[in-house]
Amino acid sequence: MKVSSDLNVIRRVCQESNVCTWGLVPTMGYLHDGHLSLVRRARSECDRVGVSIFVNPIQFTSAEDLKSYPRNLDRDLELLREQEVDLIWTPQPGQVYPDDFQTSVNVERITRPMEGASRPDHFRGVTTVVAKLFNVFQPDRAYFGEKDRQQLFAIQQMVRDLNYDIEVVPCAILREPDGLAMSSRNARLTARGRKQAVCLYEALSSAKTAVASGVAEVDTIREEMISVIHKHAGAHIDYVTVAAVETLHELTTVEGPALVFVAVEIDGIRLIDNILVNPLA
Ligand code: PAF
Repeated sequence: MKVSSDLNVIRRVCQESNVCTWGLVPTMGYLHDGHLSLVRRARSECDRVGVSIFVNPIQFTSAEDLKSYPRNLDRDLELLREQEVDLIWTPQPGQVYPDDFQTSVNVERITRPMEGASRPDHFRGVTTVVAKLFNVFQPDRAYFGEKDRQQLFAIQQMVRDLNYDIEVVPCAILREPDGLAMSSRNARLTARGRKQAVCLYEALSSAKTAVASGVAEVDTIREEMISVIHKHAGAHIDYVTVAAVETLHELTTVEGPALVFVAVEIDGIRLIDNILVNPLA
């Protein structure tokens, strides 16, 4: 396993082995089983697997959130060694964004609602760094989790719009036994907050049950979700949205497959999750 912070080393290793397929798993570190499931999938589908570990400052909306984002590089490297990862890029912020850095990649419409509305410039930061990661590794496939589904859609859009010859592979959400979607941010919850955090999955499950039993009105689905979340005193809702699968346009009725999104703050930590619902299933 080669680990380097040097962009030129990473680029050289990827280019030297140009007869094989490379899979890339971009991460911000503090790895959990969700990340490792992406790595395992890449390992099973590609000849070589690269991972980036970089807490990308330009996708954070608050300096405090960036500072408190959990980090543990030694542990991450140990976990990746067990997965037989070939190459790891661990750059410093100054190597990714030198002083005269002044270019960004912005995907327009799909990034506007939900996370985009709550976290201005978040997606611009994500797509800018992912474009840079794609340029450095030049992977054949790149693996992203469906927990950050709006991010996944923004990256797929960027790949189409900018003609990257890269297959973006969506990977299913991994959940804790109580249903909480795995996320590095979960580690920052207090014991009480961790218990309350199950409300995201409970709310999404209530939406799925409602749709399966014939409820089509989004207002009704949303009210039920809000009442489920409000049973947990410390949970503050940012948004509950039901959206069209392709465009993420907000829906007022569910007549076919749709995506239900939720964002909740607990202990000052933002948690997001989503689920696919389908009245026809
Ligand atoms: O999902 C993440 O961990 C990050 O947004 C990503 C894709 C690694 C970009 O920094």
